[in-house]
Amino acid sequence: MTSSFKSIKLETDGSLAFLTINRPDVRNALNQETVDEMHLALRDVSCNESVHVLVITGAGDSSFVAGADIGELRDRGKREALQAINQNLFTAVENISQPVIGAINGYALGGGCELALACDIRIASDAARFGFPETGLGIMPAAGGTQRLPRIIGWGRARELILTGRILDAFEAETLGLVSKVVSTTELMGEARTMADKIACRGPLATRMAKLALNASARGGLDVGLQIEKLGQAILFESRDKMEGTTAFLEKRKPKFNGE
Ligand code: COA
Repeated sequence: MTSSFKSIKLETDGSLAFLTINRPDVRNALNQETVDEMHLALRDVSCNESVHVLVITGAGDSSFVAGADIGELRDRGKREALQAINQNLFTAVENISQPVIGAINGYALGGGCELALACDIRIASDAARFGFPETGLGIMPAAGGTQRLPRIIGWGRARELILTGRILDAFEAETLGLVSKVVSTTELMGEARTMADKIACRGPLATRMAKLALNASARGGLDVGLQIEKLGQAILFESRDKMEGTTAFLEKRKPKFNGE
């Protein structure tokens, strides 16, 4: 299935969905139309029970997402800032029940880096560049950047990157734990698909519950995370997928999960 949008592309292939931000002429900067379409795409994906993993990438070779559209941003005031337009979008990315892989193919700056941070897993091409230019524009990262970055790479490094606006290459991003893996540009989507396939063949209810517990802890702290972990496992213990997964192991065959 391929949905037609103007500023993004959404394609599904078996149990995988691919969302591509498609404004290469402006380095895939996020304008309001793109944000609106991404919300619709996320809703489509979340309602599609046959999709087990979502991959997000940017069109073209040079940019994942070059942040918020600066033309729109210049005309916005505090009302729009309080609407937290991009923050809400990236929280929706983090909250979608299926695991999300960010395939970072180029510049991931400002909101682009914040979008990457909202993905469960980030892999990068060697052309990827990461950073927070916002303070140079007289604003701050406010779509999760000041919150998610330190939780992923630690407070000291996050403070340095946010306050200086220094741009990182893909290899430094890997060293800092900002991305899991760096591959060549030509290998990026193949690598994203391989990783997505590895997740998609596991128990779909189990990967969703595990993501829920990880999110609960990242957002609500250890005590909340531990409670959700316990509840998630209780639900999984009563699932058909658990019976199938454990039986298949004992019968030395591959499991056939149906997500129930
Ligand atoms: N918003 C709006 N337009 C943007 C944009 C953004 N975030 N990023 C790039 N563009 C536009 C440029 O204005 C330019 O438009 P033009 O062709 O009409 O002149 C076009 O995209 C190409 O950009 P250019 O700077 O020429 O490309 P580049 O490959 O030399 O550099 C970047 C790419 C991403 C390094 C550079 O465009 C950049 O720094 N963008 C802004 C990043 C940023 O500050 N993001 C945080 C926003 S809060």
